[in-house]
Amino acid sequence: MSAPARILLKEETLDPSFLPPRLVHRETELALLTKRFREGLSKGLPFHCLVTGGVGSGKTALVRRLGADLERVGRLHDLPLRVAYVNCWRRASDRTVMLDLLRLVKVSLPDRGYSLSEMLDVFEQGIRRSPQHLVILLDEAAALVKGETKLVYLLSRSREVELGSISLVLVAAEDLFPYLDAPSRSSFGVTHRIALAPYDRAALVDILEERARLALRPGSFDREVLDQIARVAAPNGDARFALEILDGAAHVAEEAGTDTIVAEHVRRAKGSLLPTVSESHLEALSVNQLGVLLAISRSLKRRGAAVPSQKLRATHAALVEELGAPPMSRTTFWRTLKELERDGLVSLETGASGESSQVGMDELPASLLTTLLEERTGGARARKP
Ligand SMILES: Nc1ncnc2c1ncn2[C@@H]1O[C@H](COP(=O)(O)OP(=O)(O)O)[C@@H](O)[C@H]1O
Ligand SMILES: [Mg+2]
Repeated sequence: MSAPARILLKEETLDPSFLPPRLVHRETELALLTKRFREGLSKGLPFHCLVTGGVGSGKTALVRRLGADLERVGRLHDLPLRVAYVNCWRRASDRTVMLDLLRLVKVSLPDRGYSLSEMLDVFEQGIRRSPQHLVILLDEAAALVKGETKLVYLLSRSREVELGSISLVLVAAEDLFPYLDAPSRSSFGVTHRIALAPYDRAALVDILEERARLALRPGSFDREVLDQIARVAAPNGDARFALEILDGAAHVAEEAGTDTIVAEHVRRAKGSLLPTVSESHLEALSVNQLGVLLAISRSLKRRGAAVPSQKLRATHAALVEELGAPPMSRTTFWRTLKELERDGLVSLETGASGESSQVGMDELPASLLTTLLEERTGGARARKP
């Protein structure tokens, strides 16, 4: 018997980091943004804008696509245009964002407690060395803007503060306009804001189909299966979740030794992405609990494995630092673990020494936990309307 044909031919195109060449159902938004940028740039002016929309509504894909398109053809008079993308979720302070921007203009500064204004001086020198119009995309900017940012103001007033020529794009799940300081607001008037509606089921089918054609073997899927996936993801209009199920279903089908994806594979994939835990249960989890769960999920390399609690605590501490959150005390860490055990989300087994426990968890995928944490810490709309 010959082995069944593979299904996942180019799995990398299903990865969230893959930038699709075409954004179906966002053509209007992309064209509008491109037009406004071009108009601004042709007059020698930077253009700033604020892009909002729920999780998986295509914000990141849209602004990265815009950036790539502009970088290819855009110029500001005789200045070449360069795009700098920074995800601020884990860098919710001016200084950490600035460190990334410095790297992008190819000046490196050791992270040794330089002040923001010192960093800005170095940044300015970097831009002056190779003059360019910089389009700065600040993704997941909610925490940054809601914090005490001066950077947003400075970047949107780059000319006045002599920082060179900069266009600023802010991306967030919620409308950040109310959180901007008065002078920054004037840079983000109504024609500088774009809100992405959640995708409906039909749009999700088209997005899935486009991507399935890139990633999967022709003939390994049909529209019916894609529609089934779209139905699952439609309540949140979340394309990221839809693509995750597609990827999962393709894996289940391959593991089952078949060469086409069928409804049962989709159900199984959905089941492992949204496990025994109900959505309302997940919604009820606190940020502390989600953080600990995410640390567990990162520590467990395979299903059914467990991690020693001390090791977990170190992973968790690193995660908390990454998120820029205050450190968690040992007591709170333990109390959170116990709460999760009581809720049946993790298992705790005390070792012989009585000191270090083994912490186990059934699969709550890191991707789902990350999304939930993002929603919670970014203050995005809840998963359920
Ligand atoms: N209109 C679209 N066409 C094709 N793929 C899309 C579209 N919108 C979103 N995606 C894909 O869905 C996933 C989630 O989109 P993303 O831009 O990360 O959402 P957000 O940033 O709003 O959470 C990504 O893999 C992205 O490439
Ligand atoms: Mg995003």
